[in-house]
Amino acid sequence: MNSYRASLLWFAPFDGVAAQALYEQDGLLVVGPDAQGRQVVQAIGAWATLAPVYAHVPVTHFPGRIIAPGFVDLHVHFPQTNVIGSPASGLLPWLENYTFPEEKRFESPEYSAQAASFFIAELLRNGVTTALTFATSHAQSVDALFAEAQTQKMRMITGLCLMDRHAPADLLNRASPDGKFDAAEHSVLESEALINKWHGIDRLGYAITPRFAPTSTDAQMQGAGDLAARYPDVWIQSHVAENKDEIAWARQLFPKSRSYLATYADFGLMRERAVYAHCIHFDDDDRALMRDTGAAAAVSPTSNLFLGSGFFDYAGADRVGFQYGLASDVGGGTSFSPFHTMLGAYYVGREGQTKQGLSLSPQALWWQHTAGAARALGLGGQAGAAAVGNLLPGCEADFVVLNPQATPLLARKTAIASNLDELLFAMIVLGDDRLIEKTVISQAI
Ligand code: GUN
Ligand code: ZN
Repeated sequence: MNSYRASLLWFAPFDGVAAQALYEQDGLLVVGPDAQGRQVVQAIGAWATLAPVYAHVPVTHFPGRIIAPGFVDLHVHFPQTNVIGSPASGLLPWLENYTFPEEKRFESPEYSAQAASFFIAELLRNGVTTALTFATSHAQSVDALFAEAQTQKMRMITGLCLMDRHAPADLLNRASPDGKFDAAEHSVLESEALINKWHGIDRLGYAITPRFAPTSTDAQMQGAGDLAARYPDVWIQSHVAENKDEIAWARQLFPKSRSYLATYADFGLMRERAVYAHCIHFDDDDRALMRDTGAAAAVSPTSNLFLGSGFFDYAGADRVGFQYGLASDVGGGTSFSPFHTMLGAYYVGREGQTKQGLSLSPQALWWQHTAGAARALGLGGQAGAAAVGNLLPGCEADFVVLNPQATPLLARKTAIASNLDELLFAMIVLGDDRLIEKTVISQAI
């Protein structure tokens, strides 16, 4: 066992209504193995109360620092690290002119491996310890990311990008070399082989990954849905309702479905553990479909602001009641830093001209990028599943050590914070990778 003395930030179990942060000015976090040998939180609370109980456990002291749960990035693209900051007149030209050309390079296992190691180092440097990540349509890119995550003992979920139409030929999934299976069938077989190779190994999980409906045929969508039914504990990830041109295109290609979102449901791709990026241009029937299927939205504010896609409607989501969490969506998104993403979410929530504007509380923003995002993934402590994104007893012990004195302005502003909300908001508005002094992955696998 190990213990850590610092100020502590974590969250009360979710009551279904509001995220409630807990804070201990002088706290002790005790970490040790559970029955399966995983390093989990054994105790958390006031140092004065816990220190005598755990007197035999070594202590690392971080004076003036705050320990908080590792961040959970609900949607990010590892092959798009180099795409950050590529300007375009909206999503579809951005995909065609910058994203697809870069993703072609992941045909090379060497290119994939160096990109994976940079990507994971960058996540950890920014305090992200769990991520649901897109790879490319090359199995080598999936292997490279899983291998690096396994080396770093990180909780990583990814999968083969399914695209069998409407993308450059060298990015489309291919028929099997012997010609027995067409591209749609072969892509599903490749996905299944990757599930068997990686899903549930150490801290790795597989996500069935149709890129978005416009780049899949009906046959591929159906194959992905059938696979999802056969593997109920793997994840599903895709994009939906990000941009009006994209929506018009999807409606043209799948006219029988009630809406763009409903297309996914019609092919069996909406259920718990299904995470859809963006979810901006929804009506209440779409929101109810999210709620009723247990799917979750990956809200991607810096991407939506950068590409000019629109504003996620928080009031609408809460009125109908579906799950969501925060995501960087690098490289449409402009930063790996959860602080930048939380600030972007505040801007998006505040926007009140195209929807109801509201002021998201700092506790809610932080929760959406930690315990809330974990809950959206089914990793919030649900029966039988691991728990991440929080530091309640039993949670996997991934955490960050924050230095609120990291910059002169942070030091000045956090020193005058008179309550927890002011302290959290100062870090959200002024923070970046400099605030993350250390990221600790406690697992001993
Ligand atoms: N829709 C389909 N592919 C993508 C992608 O790579 N990024 C974003 N933001 N939206 C998408
Ligand atoms: Zn995306």
